[in-house]
Amino acid sequence: MIKRVEPPERLLMGPGPINADPRVLAVMSLPLLGQFDPVFRQYMREASELYRGVFQTRNRWTLLVDGTARSAIEAALVSLVEPGDRVLVPVFGRFGHLKVEIAKRCGAEVRALEAEWGTVFPPETLEKAIREYRPKLVAVSHGDTSTTMAQPLSHLGRICRESDALLYVDATATLGGMDLPVDAWQLDVVSAGLQKCLGGPPGSAPLTLNERAAKKIERRKHMEEGLREPGQRDGEGPVIRSNYLDLAMIMDYWSDKALNHHTEATSMLYAAHECARILLEEGLQKAFARHQRASDELVAGLKAMGLELYGDQKHKMPNVTGVVIPRGVDGEAVRRALLEKHGIEIGTSFGPLRGRIWRIGTMGYNARPEAVQRTLRALEDVLAARR
Ligand SMILES: Cc1ncc(COP(=O)(O)O)c(C=O)c1O
Repeated sequence: MIKRVEPPERLLMGPGPINADPRVLAVMSLPLLGQFDPVFRQYMREASELYRGVFQTRNRWTLLVDGTARSAIEAALVSLVEPGDRVLVPVFGRFGHLKVEIAKRCGAEVRALEAEWGTVFPPETLEKAIREYRPKLVAVSHGDTSTTMAQPLSHLGRICRESDALLYVDATATLGGMDLPVDAWQLDVVSAGLQKCLGGPPGSAPLTLNERAAKKIERRKHMEEGLREPGQRDGEGPVIRSNYLDLAMIMDYWSDKALNHHTEATSMLYAAHECARILLEEGLQKAFARHQRASDELVAGLKAMGLELYGDQKHKMPNVTGVVIPRGVDGEAVRRALLEKHGIEIGTSFGPLRGRIWRIGTMGYNARPEAVQRTLRALEDVLAARR
């Protein structure tokens, strides 16, 4: 008989997932409830309210998409993008390419604007591109873990409104670790994932959308047969080309109508609920400062070892750090030794950065001095053995 899983103890210092807060793991073992149980519906309403706090928004539509962060990206794009719509995607890493790919699958006419990896876009470049291309939607990452860069976004919402474009922001890797005031920055739709700065496991994707976005989605609402009531008419817009990720149906499910859609991922909702409670108990500003301190400590330690950091440091995310693999060092052998000898995972990298940098995350529950110091000591030990 195959034995029950018995995962080894690891300190997860890569770009996500990180070690979940023990409080989050504890709520995940609590009893399941039916999705229409009044107690569970109350937990759903509380989750919406808690994530309004996390997203710094008053948006009515603040909910969880069941799946990893990518599910919410796809839900946002498939629900907002109509075939033939122009979509502009600023690409400064792998996750920009992901949004290009999803938008194309939605039938959009996509313009990808590319910045060299390790850099971000000056606001004027984005403004010019939006005025020229006049997209219906701009889809951008806040922080791209593949390059460790964070795109400044405070002015983008205003520019999009002036051009009558909607703005979608992928905050998977930054929500809870960097300031992202959704209402103040006029961001129309924003989504994230639990497994990074929110300190939970992968599998739930918080998403918020405002009335501008809701209007577009409502126009596309098509009722599933079997749920349709007599006389109920569909919206005049084209049907959303995914059933599972149809935000019009997910919004009905989360509303007081509680219209049946999928079966809510009960234990993941408990987890997401607890992640937000922990973050709001600490206070957003304190959590952002804690991420910055962990990053500063890591950076200081890496520099003290003579290691070079990757990318434009003015725009480095405070929760992921790119480290240039020193010449003559086998990056994968170092990662393996860290894991086998010290039980620590750090990240590899993709595409043009493959074999060139390691990525070290200091996020969520692991944005703590003990985790940073343990990682630095282990890296020093492993590198010393190789010099
Ligand atoms: C910016 C960004 N977007 C999307 C994703 C994909 O998230 P997931 O693997 O949870 O679907 C990641 C994961 O690293 C990310 O950093």
